[in-house]
Amino acid sequence: NQASEPTVQSPVPEYSCQRSTPLKHHNSRFCEAMELLQDYAEMREGDDNYMRALAWRRASCVLKSLKFPLTNIDQLKGAKDVGKHVEKVLQSILDHGTSDEVEKVRNDPWYKKMKIFTKVFGAGTKTAQEWIEKGWTTVDEVRQNYTKGDWRLRFGLAFHEELMELVTRLEADNFTKFIKHQCETILPGISVELCGGFKRGKTHGHDIDLLFTHQSTGKEVGFLPRLLSVLESKNLILCGKWNRGTYTEEAMYSDSKRTKNNQLDHFEKWIGIIKFPKKWRKSISEEEFFSDENVSADLNSYEDSEPAKKKLKTNELSPEDIAAQSRSWIARRVDLIIAPYDQYFYALVGWTGSKQFNRDIRTYAKRTHNYAMTSHGLYDLTKRKSLPAKSEKEIFDILGVPYFPPEERNC
Ligand code: CTP
Ligand code: MN
Ligand code: MN
Ligand code: MN
Repeated sequence: NQASEPTVQSPVPEYSCQRSTPLKHHNSRFCEAMELLQDYAEMREGDDNYMRALAWRRASCVLKSLKFPLTNIDQLKGAKDVGKHVEKVLQSILDHGTSDEVEKVRNDPWYKKMKIFTKVFGAGTKTAQEWIEKGWTTVDEVRQNYTKGDWRLRFGLAFHEELMELVTRLEADNFTKFIKHQCETILPGISVELCGGFKRGKTHGHDIDLLFTHQSTGKEVGFLPRLLSVLESKNLILCGKWNRGTYTEEAMYSDSKRTKNNQLDHFEKWIGIIKFPKKWRKSISEEEFFSDENVSADLNSYEDSEPAKKKLKTNELSPEDIAAQSRSWIARRVDLIIAPYDQYFYALVGWTGSKQFNRDIRTYAKRTHNYAMTSHGLYDLTKRKSLPAKSEKEIFDILGVPYFPPEERNC
């Protein structure tokens, strides 16, 4: 009967960016298991664990791109990234429905705590580890005992429960519509694109990623501070940080300068939390949407400061106090990114993701062409010149990768 079972096309394209990876696929129970092992490895320190995490993810991505449910391990013959260890876990799930290795991690007290703590906005593995070492086991315990931390952590802790509640597609669409409407006054011609998981077809997400550009390059300069002023004047900003763009083409040719301070790119951006009116969580009429229509903001008042800090000083309310108030809004994580038009399509690919798709297409670009790929562009390291693109399709064409729409980049 083995002969009648489907097998992978042979050979399986090596990089996930060369394969169609839909959101809904046939092997979620295997992928869930492998991504748990990825997650666990990512939480632990060291290069070995980093490599291990990537290996689990790559294997998971192979399974995600299969056009059939795995029923026999031999179906994976010819697939890259499926080594002995992966086979062992998959075989165990095929035989018993579970894998001891996976279940051991799932029930590991350290893993469970790390899982809870790293979900807090602003908390990475280092902070989570620090909390575990204090003996804390719940976010509530952290909240009661932890007084340090930057604005991210303070708001992340105070608003943790509602930030954990996933953003729906409807909420994301409503917010995008609202921002587009504001843009008509602030800077006609600016384009607004909902990116991230929603662009890839997800119905829920942990935040809203909006990418802005203007077709006449240069017009986008100064736009974001003005948008933030408007949002501030409408009392829609809970906290956030505006970062100036730091891009130079020169830096793209240097391995060490391509990304700095763990940032994935050099765009001007705002990362923060919006006070999301509860009425925006359901379908609403245009009228109701734009009823409180008074953009009276001083469009130049937004300064290079952390509004969170500014706010805390002026109204003397702690994040906890604000969270405890009776209010007509809920907290929503929002990323606003500005891309100059000549970098736009690279920014679009980068901010659409998935993260693993970006990793793979960048590795592919480097290994096969000696190109450095970033969210700013594609840089030929041999000839030391950049390769501009006027569409997403053109980027794939330059690289010689088949074009897949965002819905098929769910690696
Ligand atoms: N990204 C990036 N630079 C950052 C942060 C994110 O290029 N500083 C990219 C990520 O690699 C990802 C996309 O932007 O491809 C969106 O990131 P994020 O919102 O973290 O993830 P999503 O895929 O949108 O998932 P979710 O729905 O949970 O938000
Ligand atoms: Mn985190
Ligand atoms: Mn997102
Ligand atoms: Mn994001």
